[in-house]
Amino acid sequence: MRKPIIAGNWKMNHAPAQAATLLAQLIPLLHETACDVVVCPPFVSLSETLSLTRGTPIAVGAQNCHIEKSGAFTGEVAPDFLAEMGVRYVILGHSERREYFGETDAFINRKVRAALSCGLIPIVCVGETLAQREDGVTAELVSYQTRAALAGLSPAQVGSLVIAYEPIWAIGTGMTATAADANTVIGIIRGQVRKTWGDAADMIRIQYGGSMKPGNAAELMAQPEIDGGLVGGASLNADDFAAIVHYQAERNA
Ligand code: 13P
Repeated sequence: MRKPIIAGNWKMNHAPAQAATLLAQLIPLLHETACDVVVCPPFVSLSETLSLTRGTPIAVGAQNCHIEKSGAFTGEVAPDFLAEMGVRYVILGHSERREYFGETDAFINRKVRAALSCGLIPIVCVGETLAQREDGVTAELVSYQTRAALAGLSPAQVGSLVIAYEPIWAIGTGMTATAADANTVIGIIRGQVRKTWGDAADMIRIQYGGSMKPGNAAELMAQPEIDGGLVGGASLNADDFAAIVHYQAERNA
């Protein structure tokens, strides 16, 4: 059984003071959780977030990292620095980084390896644009993105990490993939993992991301292939994020 994992990607929102305000609202709502919970603030709010979440069930993730341990890379952050601070997860290959910062599959693969080598758990994002979906290349594309991002990893490494399937047309648009559609594509991603890394496919956790909200989380999470959510907008609201984390209670309500 894979433990569900709900992660909040705050994107470029919440400097330390706002992060503290959100966490003060969120922490009391998340005393007991049936799933792993992660919040991913911007770099400048990691310190504040780590100290405020210490002793709570909330783990902390970063939204990016560099491939090198140190050196002349102005403006970049080494994965080792994050690990030393107590950060556990790192989002890699988000579609916004692919689109606005030119990240390629090969570069994302190097980031995944660098993150794993210092003990971080990558949350690797894959997903298609609307045009690609309409062209019928979703399966081919996410399979390729998965193979490329995880190239050269051992089955144990692959089994330990997290993939987030985020259809780009569903990000921040209010449009969600239907639960059945998301389940199908995530099944395709898991099948690709099985082809190359065998039983790691049973361990790897694959999230859905794209306009996940309290109102659709339970249905998405009820799908057999969907192991969690990577939540953008709704993770900035404590009540909404907590309701997503407690999706089982919402389902039973
Ligand atoms: P939204 O939940 O705002 O659609 O964002 C999804 C996302 O990109 C999470 O990484």
